[in-house]
Amino acid sequence: MNATRDLHILGIETSCDETGAAVVARTAGGAGAILSNLVRSQLKEHAAFGGVVPEIAARAHGEVLDGMIAAALADAGLDLDTIDAIAVTAGPGLIGGLLVGVVTAKALGLARAIPVLPVNHLEGHALTVGLTEGVPPPYLLLLVSGGHSQLLAVHDVGRYERLGTTLDDALGEAFDKTAKLLGLGFPGGPEVERWAQGGDPKRFALPRPMVGRAEPHFSFSGLKTALRQEAVKLGTLAERDVHDLCASFEQAIVESVADRVRTAMAIFRRKVAPEAPLRLVAAGGVAANRKLRAVLGAEAGKAGFSLHVPPVALCGDNAAMIAWAGAERLARGLEMPADFEARARWPLDAAAPKAIGAGVKA
Ligand code: KG4
Ligand code: ZN
Repeated sequence: MNATRDLHILGIETSCDETGAAVVARTAGGAGAILSNLVRSQLKEHAAFGGVVPEIAARAHGEVLDGMIAAALADAGLDLDTIDAIAVTAGPGLIGGLLVGVVTAKALGLARAIPVLPVNHLEGHALTVGLTEGVPPPYLLLLVSGGHSQLLAVHDVGRYERLGTTLDDALGEAFDKTAKLLGLGFPGGPEVERWAQGGDPKRFALPRPMVGRAEPHFSFSGLKTALRQEAVKLGTLAERDVHDLCASFEQAIVESVADRVRTAMAIFRRKVAPEAPLRLVAAGGVAANRKLRAVLGAEAGKAGFSLHVPPVALCGDNAAMIAWAGAERLARGLEMPADFEARARWPLDAAAPKAIGAGVKA
């Protein structure tokens, strides 16, 4: 079902360490367009701490958000009177940051009589390919970010079935912790990727976690520990060692993820109607990794799936994906309560059982 008119949605994103404000259009026919998309990273504020400090994040969002909203509207050539709704990330994420976005959205909505739509940040990542490529559900989704690693059957907008999740660290978290251990910068994913170039991926025999398991779950903490042991054995690390450790780590990761995705593709093929096209979508910050994108492309090809990944700039956190998810829900008349709270935890598939493992997050 589609809306009968074009929609213009203002999106707001403050769930972690990027402040985002964007305006997205959705035609009555369902085509999306980004009219503006501003992202301000808080990297500098958190750099000294080697990770995101929640209190600093919330304050930094608060300092810039109103100016960014004004700039996003101006860039789009619109104002609040021509906006149909405000879509705001209501979770999951760091509660202080979420509150900054939610309170700002509610205040604007109340003052100007504009509907405010609570959006699940993960749904933003999950639906981005609809905005960038016009790819609609159903599809199999690999969602890999700093806080989540999941394989989901996206049956429709708003209908998610979790097939697999991580038993310990999220994939981005594994990259970040490994980078920290090796004395590289934050966020660790792009740093590890850069150092892996020119390194020997076979020098260190690291485990390929979960390979061959029937359920497409992930686990990365054993791999992270194995890498630490190799680094400790070496003592002082030469540049060559860091290149080789990063290359070996990245290789182990992509082989493990490829196996998990293969398993999930087989499950997805059985679950979706036989006439549905077979599509694999990758999203979230880690989907920016070039080696992972290449390996996923090869695996998808072998299984008869097409691969769809957002452009690198839209893999990380941004408000365009939040605006788009809001637009997709609004166009379908899906429930979006006006009276809502920010939520630190908000799984896409609320019915999925908790996976057994240490440090499970979703
Ligand atoms: O989706 P995202 O921007 O924020 C969350 O919602 O978590 O994902 C951030 C995560 C970080 O852990 C970062 O290290 C990782 O994505 N990441 C990467 C790459 N770029 C970002 N991991 C591996 N390779 C990359 N090129
Ligand atoms: Zn994210």
